[in-house]
Amino acid sequence: MASTPILLLLLATAAMAGLRHAGATEYTVGDSDGWTIGPNYLPWSQKYNFTTGDTLAFNYVPRQHDVYRVTRDAFQTCEPTAGQTVRKWASGRDVVDLAATGDYYFICNITGHCLGGMKFSVAVGAPPPPPPSPPPPSAFPTTVPPPPSSGACGRHLALPDLARIAGLAAIGLWISLLS
Ligand SMILES: *[C@@H]1O[C@H](CO)[C@@H](O)[C@H](O)[C@H]1NC(C)=O
Ligand SMILES: *[C@@H]1O[C@H](CO)[C@@H](O)[C@H](O)[C@H]1NC(C)=O
Repeated sequence: MASTPILLLLLATAAMAGLRHAGATEYTVGDSDGWTIGPNYLPWSQKYNFTTGDTLAFNYVPRQHDVYRVTRDAFQTCEPTAGQTVRKWASGRDVVDLAATGDYYFICNITGHCLGGMKFSVAVGAPPPPPPSPPPPSAFPTTVPPPPSSGACGRHLALPDLARIAGLAAIGLWISLLS
């Protein structure tokens, strides 16, 4: 029975891996086209429902393009000032965390590229709640039993209670023997 702690550890690890996996998808911007002049990024940005924990991967040749997360105003003008720039990336393999809910606006800030189509926005929502677990089956009949007469009350409750206490004691003894 020394395997009990190991089994619990395995179950906990599996549960954590499942949780982490559920919320995190990496989306490659432009799919196989990557981040470049030419593709229309509007249909791409509308293909998915992005949720917090997801990431966007921008793949491009460094110095030919870059990635600016900007305000909505700068997204419309394509000319971000420093104050309208939330963050910028330029490595050519940039992974952007969509950590919070809200609207994200991205452009390429190389001259002319934003006006040429290198811009898109995504709305990031909260992940859907996990599916509800089915209600546990009722162990007792749903009808309420009639109240016992006052004389039988003590005897009526004593036997099941004793049995439950004995059961708990047996389980406690079993657990203390295991550890
Ligand atoms: C996105 O969410 C909408 C509304 O909840 C749903 O109708 C649509 O099928 C979802 N699209 C994808 C790609 O999951
Ligand atoms: C965006 O690019 C323009 C043109 O290269 C540049 O003048 C401007 O400073 C850049 N914006 C920011 C916030 O760096």
